[in-house]
Amino acid sequence: MTLEGKVAIVTGAGSGLGRASARALAAAGASVVVADIDDPGAAETVDQIRAADGTAISHHADVAVASDCESIVRAAVDEFGSLNVLHNNAGVAWPGRDGFAPDIDPAEWDRVISINLNGTFYCCHFAVPEIAKAGGGSIINTASSMAHLPLGGLDGYAASKGGVALLTKSMTPSAGRLGIRVNAISPGYVDTPMNGLIWGNDDVKHAFDLGHATGLQDPDEIADVVVFLASDASRSLTGAVLNCDRGWTAFKQPDLLRGF
Ligand SMILES: NC(=O)c1ccc[n+]([C@@H]2O[C@H](COP(=O)([O-])OP(=O)(O)OC[C@H]3O[C@@H](n4cnc5c(N)ncnc54)[C@H](O)[C@@H]3O)[C@@H](O)[C@H]2O)c1
Repeated sequence: MTLEGKVAIVTGAGSGLGRASARALAAAGASVVVADIDDPGAAETVDQIRAADGTAISHHADVAVASDCESIVRAAVDEFGSLNVLHNNAGVAWPGRDGFAPDIDPAEWDRVISINLNGTFYCCHFAVPEIAKAGGGSIINTASSMAHLPLGGLDGYAASKGGVALLTKSMTPSAGRLGIRVNAISPGYVDTPMNGLIWGNDDVKHAFDLGHATGLQDPDEIADVVVFLASDASRSLTGAVLNCDRGWTAFKQPDLLRGF
């Protein structure tokens, strides 16, 4: 699954799954643009990649702003000469558990949709012509198990991720004519700071752990799926929304999770 000579962008790569993805893509040989709104986080990711003899630059960008997404693509081409892989990873969860539609402040709804869904669209919009110019490549969008099996009470997040999953499928035929594969990943629950907001206490965290056939996930296992989708090893896959969720969406969840 080598990515030697390839150029990749990872958004939201200053933390969690994005950092793991950037590190794994670089370890597979890609030159990586580490894009994030969090400059120290992005710098730390670049340091880690360089310490492992990889190639990366950081780039400040807010994916909710179209011109920032254009600047990420421009940075990749200016610095590394082309673009082959885009991992749309930047995303935000609800800032708490009160995400039932009537309780959602419309401004907060707009923010989540802007980052999770619009950001994915903006980056695809600007990246596709460059990836096509390079002769084709791979786009990996980050959906979520909540695109398929919402928890309830996180209505904006679930809607944004459902949008990402359908954007992925809808882009597939046109992208295919340009030699570009478009897939999405749907992780279950990964032990990152984002989820501390969701499970709140250890009992709920334990229930989430039981809801996966083999327990909570770690960022590196999701990064391995990203490298697979970026590489030719996954050449038969496009339009796939992969449940890489340790079985979270495959079986009934523990009763402890009812109305959590
Ligand atoms: N953690 C999980 O269990 C899980 C499960 C399924 C899907 N996901 C998705 O995976 C992605 C990464 O999640 P994570 O758990 O690593 O979260 P995280 O909070 O650890 O990392 C998210 C990163 O995105 C960056 N970011 C936020 N808003 C941004 C913006 N407007 N522009 C650019 N960067 C921005 C943050 O600064 C941060 O570095 C998200 O899309 C999330 O929805 C996570």
